[in-house]
Amino acid sequence: KPIVLSGAQPSGQLTIGNYLGALRQWDRMQDDYDCLYCIVDLHAITVRQDPAALRSASLDSLALYLACGIDPNRSSVFMQSHVPEHSQLNWILNCYTQFGELSRMTQFKDKSERHANNVNAGLFTYPVLMAADILVYNAHQIPVGHDQKQHLELARDIANRFNALHGEIFTVPEPYIPGVAARVMSLQEPTKKMSKSDENPWNFVGLLEDPKMISKKFKKAMTDSEDPPRVAYDLENKAGVANLLSILSGVTGKSIDSLVAEYEGKMYGHLKGDVADAVIALLEPVQAKFHEIRQDQSLMNQVLKQGAAEARARAAVTLEKVYDAVGFVLPG
Ligand code: TYM
Repeated sequence: KPIVLSGAQPSGQLTIGNYLGALRQWDRMQDDYDCLYCIVDLHAITVRQDPAALRSASLDSLALYLACGIDPNRSSVFMQSHVPEHSQLNWILNCYTQFGELSRMTQFKDKSERHANNVNAGLFTYPVLMAADILVYNAHQIPVGHDQKQHLELARDIANRFNALHGEIFTVPEPYIPGVAARVMSLQEPTKKMSKSDENPWNFVGLLEDPKMISKKFKKAMTDSEDPPRVAYDLENKAGVANLLSILSGVTGKSIDSLVAEYEGKMYGHLKGDVADAVIALLEPVQAKFHEIRQDQSLMNQVLKQGAAEARARAAVTLEKVYDAVGFVLPG
């Protein structure tokens, strides 16, 4: 089976953007792929985190992965920091990545503007650690949202460069991006991406939010003032309405075209109410499972222990090949 690797940062509560862009695909891919899913805690500290909040968000993420259908008997589920081979390969790959390449990463440019008082070296080399996450397992398919495309392109470049110098060590990974809702937008500012670390909570919907709050957030979502109102998928002129349509399409599986036809002549409030109801119905069972799992510390410990052991055994094989290829003396 082809290998799949993906992860999310525990830098806040996972959102419906994370679910539609990534987690849902992770769940579906378990049937046909050999899957590894991690909680990328090392990546999260590129932005300052409160230690207690980070620990709790990491465990919440784990419980949410499981509640969304990730099955530890079929997939390896683990904390990135439990598998030191990611960091070890990261160092090697740092030496095969150019300063100029990293300077061109749009996410680095965005984040270094938003966190201007803490433009640390980890924020700059973030995509190299991501490449290490992927290449250390020789993963083939990487299920991610649209925003990770550039980082994946870099991972491919690093793999190709290393292979050209040292032989076929790494598999060159492919992005696996959903056809719909690959880029869920902020509810209040629909020209920017929905983000779990947004300081304005009205911009995102968390997977653990109370249904009443979810309804309020969608009711308040920014649309437009076209008169008469028109439900159409126009990303440029009607970004808010287009975003609601994408979310509804992602959640219900109905095509955008059929939704546009369905809402012809209807008010925005109608669409908003239906999106809220669909999201709430999707999340109800996820939330119930989450609360059950989150209380079961021994189950979570067991999953993490098993996941890390499985991941380490595999990562160690690649790391040894890499150490050998670059000319390190292997311990006898
Ligand atoms: P992160 O934590 O920002 O997001 C986790 C996943 O959710 C997707 N996503 C979205 N999809 C659609 N609409 C949105 N608004 C939205 N916001 C986030 C992301 O694309 C991602 O797939 N660098 C990665 C984490 C990472 C990783 C990896 C991913 C580290 N190493 C190796 C894949 C493979 C990140 O920050 O994701």
